[in-house]
Amino acid sequence: MKILVTSALPYANGEIHLGHLAGAYLPADIYVRYHRLKGNDIIYICGSDEHGVPITIAADKQKVSPQVIVDKYHNSIKESFEKFGCSFDNYSRTSLPLHHKTAQDFFTRIYDKGFIYPKTISQFFCHACNMFLADRYVTGTCPHCENDKARGDQCEKCGRWLEPFNLIEPKCKTCGAQPEELKTTHYFFKLSQFQDTLKKWIGEKTNWKDNVKKFCQGWFAQGLEDRAITRDLTWGVKVPLKEAQNKVLYVWFDAPIGYISSTKEWAEKKGKPDLWKDYWLDSKTKLVHFIGKDNIVFHAMVWPAMLFAHGDYILPSEIPANEFLNLEGRKLSTSENWAVWLPEYLKEFEPDPLRYALAVNLPENRDIDFAWRDFLARNNNELADVLGNFINRVATFINKNYNGNIPENHKFTESDNEVLIKIEDTTKKVGELIEPFQIKDAIRELMTLPNLGNRYFDYQAPWQSFKTDRNKCDTTINVCARVIASLSVILEPFLPFTADKIKKLIQIQSKAWDEAQNPKFGKTLGPVSILFPKIEEKVINTQIDKLGKKTTTETEPKKEAVPTTSVVKIEDVKKEKQMEITFDDFKKIELKTAKILNAERVAATDKLIRMDIDLGTEKRQIVAGIGMAYAPETLIGRNIVVVANLQKAKIRGVESNGMLLAAVDGADISLVILDKDIKTGSSVS
Ligand code: MF3
Ligand code: ZN
Repeated sequence: MKILVTSALPYANGEIHLGHLAGAYLPADIYVRYHRLKGNDIIYICGSDEHGVPITIAADKQKVSPQVIVDKYHNSIKESFEKFGCSFDNYSRTSLPLHHKTAQDFFTRIYDKGFIYPKTISQFFCHACNMFLADRYVTGTCPHCENDKARGDQCEKCGRWLEPFNLIEPKCKTCGAQPEELKTTHYFFKLSQFQDTLKKWIGEKTNWKDNVKKFCQGWFAQGLEDRAITRDLTWGVKVPLKEAQNKVLYVWFDAPIGYISSTKEWAEKKGKPDLWKDYWLDSKTKLVHFIGKDNIVFHAMVWPAMLFAHGDYILPSEIPANEFLNLEGRKLSTSENWAVWLPEYLKEFEPDPLRYALAVNLPENRDIDFAWRDFLARNNNELADVLGNFINRVATFINKNYNGNIPENHKFTESDNEVLIKIEDTTKKVGELIEPFQIKDAIRELMTLPNLGNRYFDYQAPWQSFKTDRNKCDTTINVCARVIASLSVILEPFLPFTADKIKKLIQIQSKAWDEAQNPKFGKTLGPVSILFPKIEEKVINTQIDKLGKKTTTETEPKKEAVPTTSVVKIEDVKKEKQMEITFDDFKKIELKTAKILNAERVAATDKLIRMDIDLGTEKRQIVAGIGMAYAPETLIGRNIVVVANLQKAKIRGVESNGMLLAAVDGADISLVILDKDIKTGSSVS
């Protein structure tokens, strides 16, 4: 079996952050490294996505050519991937002539087959910015779910595909101006024609993840529409038609073809330029696309339709799409710098603790929060105290008592055998979990082995048996060495740098995954190193402090990050002020007295305080933005008034079940408190 694995090609207009890693890169790398150890024929293909409007906008802003931008980011992305241990067989880039040609040939082929046609359409044009607005440069309100931050191409809230003209109150994303509709001719891909084919094809993918299937069902229900695949831009792959001189292919048309061109480049570099065909043209190849959920539509619908239209290439077998990674209770936002950037991380820490912290908590089935404190705890309590400690105590014992020579075993007892069986078992189970992409469960399963190792070591107490029963001690230590040897192999997909150190320590001879069940290793120990230095709290605090602040390397002026929901037009405010409500309206609001039992700041915020409150009949948690005006400890014991029947909400990831009343004058805030003691939970009217 041949396996061709890809990770989404990252845009070369910014650095890689933790969200990228958890979504499309780390799980893929683990999967690929595992299959290599299994001896399977697998290649791992990726590259930079160097076209698209965000890149030209960045270039205009900095008054350089787009090539300058993509050169900068392509190189630095490539470098940080390498340092993080991403083991691509090829990391290409879509500005290469090889890619342009591959994408143009692809276009020509499906154009000749009649799947592409020209159509004159209206498009938004921003006079202030003097350009046609690409779909994602128009924002407005989604007509389906009323999300007021919908983009012109897609509403991230309800997942529906949009055309910019569907948006209610469209605006130019760059300057906020209202754009004008003008005419232009574009080339359309007949996606609508593939609805039945795609439906049948996806229907057969019974093992696909729910998130992917659900997204697809949504689009089928809506009905697939033909999509414009060209743009009025100068940066990109030129449309290979005489009559379309000033147009380029839409970035989402050319980028996935990058998977093919990167494979071609790989083959060329190997000196076997036709080798790519063994993968892309052989129906027995398993094509696996690792992506984040924001890329599902393109990988599960448009790209397969393009491949169907083309006809020569294989289709994706698996699309293990991950959900999003949030950060410290908030959605990642690159524009607000609410993100952890890989190059910044790598300046301070080793790659493996991050690979571990992300892997044990991958957003495989739901959005997951990454918190620096959790990272610290994973490193200190799991990597250092369990894994590192086990290896270190065994190595120290061998060096001290056996002069660095690993003892041979004697007859195994039942408890020795238990560990030996556990080694076999773990090796098997971890593999069985990686294969269906259950990476998170796989690493958790793996960690039960060093855990057992520690318990076994404690229970056998070799420091005693060394004096009283040397044979028993030899056997215990030999069994521990086997655990270490096995770990050095099965840890490799997850923690490749650590695995290397352990391999040198135990002088491993078994390289294949299956040999890890009963590994061969050296007779003496190699160099001992501390595998996981503990991380101090203050180091983490520095990282948390950086969130939301611009880095020093960035020169752009900081844009005020005003959520559009909080921008209320003056007219609306006036209208609301004059609006009368009936007494019945007022009665809908359930006001109650409550006592604050507990109060603390929400991590990484100045403004938010989380409180436990007593409502007489029940206790609840609420979050309020009063942190600038009150210290948490001064709040405990106060009697306040809350809206008890307000819809639950998540504020920075913390659930708030109710709202307290406070008077607000700019930054000055005063809680509404009670004049005299009254039973907690009394109604207020
Ligand atoms: N550059 C896109 C993103 O970061 C992903 C492109 S994936 C590809 O969202 F398939 F088109 F290459
Ligand atoms: Zn504009």
